[in-house]
Amino acid sequence: MAEAERSVPRHVAIIMDGNGRWAKKRLLPRAMGHRAGLRRMISLIGHIFSRGVEYCTLFALSAENFARPAEEIEALFSLFREYFTQNVAELEAQGIRLIVIGDRSLLPADIQGAISHAEEATGRGARGTLALAIGYGARQDLVCACNKFVREGREATQETLAQSLSTGTMPEVDLLIRTGKEKRLSNFLLFEAAYAELIFSEKLFPDFTDRDFDGALAEYAKRERRFGKL
Ligand code: FPP
Repeated sequence: MAEAERSVPRHVAIIMDGNGRWAKKRLLPRAMGHRAGLRRMISLIGHIFSRGVEYCTLFALSAENFARPAEEIEALFSLFREYFTQNVAELEAQGIRLIVIGDRSLLPADIQGAISHAEEATGRGARGTLALAIGYGARQDLVCACNKFVREGREATQETLAQSLSTGTMPEVDLLIRTGKEKRLSNFLLFEAAYAELIFSEKLFPDFTDRDFDGALAEYAKRERRFGKL
């Protein structure tokens, strides 16, 4: 079916913003906000695929976020460790293939190992693909792909460039949601979301419910997608 005719987006991307403010409102340390965000993320993933979405890309940590205080980065590393060891069996059971996009050399070796193991264990999942963006930046990904073309001495087309990005096994993004009030893309999927429908939620990510997600799907279904045509 042509993408313009589908009422459920094939590929949904979410910028999970607002964990820090969620914690601040409750006088909790920022790390507690990220923990609440992780809890919400795990439950939301199941819901997203139950709605018929085939590909879901979640922005967990940008390359630029690594400049945050070491304490916060360490707290996030602990959550990654926990997630990539404790949630793999569930993803496997649900038939969800997990991939991680971004510069994983920024992560400690044990987390890199846990990610590789999780990717292998879930690699045959056929119900859907979950891409977690960690140490990711769209500009960096584009530069990396361009350099590959230069090294190989060939010109890129829109199709071959798309295939050379870290999202190369996925179709382009249909719906991009950002929680947490801000209205910007923050170096996320700049090429892949060229014709994505954009929805900005006022809710901080830990408060973004399955119902809020369904609301975004309903809004998406009402949008007329023309891809530049009349
Ligand atoms: C942005 O909120 C959120 C992050 C930088 C981290 C998001 C991480 C998770 C939801 C957990 C991910 C876990 C795994 C295993 C992928 P912010 O800290 O910028 O919030 P603020 O804008 O309110 O300060």
